[in-house]
Amino acid sequence: MKTLSVSLGERSYPVYIGQGLLDDSALLTGHISGKQVFVISNDKVGPLYMDRVLALLKGYTCHSLQLPDGEKYKTLDSFETIISELLSHKTGRNATLVALGGGVIGDITGFAAACYQRGINFIQIPTTLLAQVDSSVGGKTAVNHRLGKNMIGAFHQPVAVIADTDVLDTLEDRQLRAGIAEVIKYGLIRDAAFFDWLVDNMSAILERQPEALTRAIKISCENKAAVVAEDERESGIRAILNLGHTFGHAIETAQEYSGWLHGEAVAMGMILAADLSVRLGWLDAGELARARALIDAAGLPVTLPQGISPGDLLEHMALDKKNRDGALTLILLEEIGHAVIRDGIEHELIVETLSAYS
Ligand code: NAD
Ligand code: GLY
Repeated sequence: MKTLSVSLGERSYPVYIGQGLLDDSALLTGHISGKQVFVISNDKVGPLYMDRVLALLKGYTCHSLQLPDGEKYKTLDSFETIISELLSHKTGRNATLVALGGGVIGDITGFAAACYQRGINFIQIPTTLLAQVDSSVGGKTAVNHRLGKNMIGAFHQPVAVIADTDVLDTLEDRQLRAGIAEVIKYGLIRDAAFFDWLVDNMSAILERQPEALTRAIKISCENKAAVVAEDERESGIRAILNLGHTFGHAIETAQEYSGWLHGEAVAMGMILAADLSVRLGWLDAGELARARALIDAAGLPVTLPQGISPGDLLEHMALDKKNRDGALTLILLEEIGHAVIRDGIEHELIVETLSAYS
């Protein structure tokens, strides 16, 4: 097992990465406060792993809840379901919530933990690659609104992240690829050596070779932990973790959260951000080609979905959380391994970029 730390003073916490962690009772119970534990999952992951998690919690008063599966259920309704369950079981303020699932369950559960009685303890057990390399670390929690993704949320750090790589065995290939998008992101934004390693090892990752997969998760989490430690609440540098996300969230919103997977939309968004960076004269065209080739090699989209116009996407982009005073803020690239935060980009250039991939 590898243990990393997210260094945030008194809110610091460990990220455990390894095989067989779902059989380690002490690892989980060591981070539980109080005697009441509520495990939140969904109707796909729950049947696979809930019993194993509950078996680790002997001696605690445990309840569990399985929400419907899917991004379209990352809503205030699901949030309210959790709160109602907590109240109906007279859950106290010293209880612990456990999120057992991918990024959707992690984000909703974290938001419920942030809000219930003004904030309770929570633990992330991420079960997708995307959640293990990104969403479970860093304390961003949220639900979607019909008009915009992750528009209702809070910063609330977990007290531990337990990433058992064995659970990825049951993950569908498409979901694995979606997680790889966020892995590639770290190479693009701040780790050129990792990008090169990914170019050489993409087939091993796609074949789920344990050594390659574990290394990809560990280096991704190290990158994420370093950025979060520097800027927990995204007043500056943390925004680079959103490379491709302004475009990606616009695609997801335009598809009413029922089309592409989050990672797929982010992959396309990263190509658009790199392409726009080339149009602005900041990035070499050869670097765009390398980024695009790696995303393509991971089996991720390299052209926009049918039926969504550049104008529609630009409209959704106007609601992005990074925007200030109505002006779009974008994460762009100066080279592979170096992202920058920029605003004031001409809308015509953005539309030109979007049109080139429509
Ligand atoms: P997801 O949670 O919908 O999981 C993807 C699918 O895999 C679901 O059908 C899920 O039930 C299934 N699944 C999960 N684990 C499984 C397993 N071990 N075996 C079989 N099936 C399994 O999607 P995701 O890609 O994990 O997360 C995407 C979400 O994460 C988005 O809502 C995105 O906004 C959010 N996100 C948040 C952050 C953050 O910092 N909070 C960062 C990145 C993404
Ligand atoms: N996924 C973006 C962030 O955690 O800041």
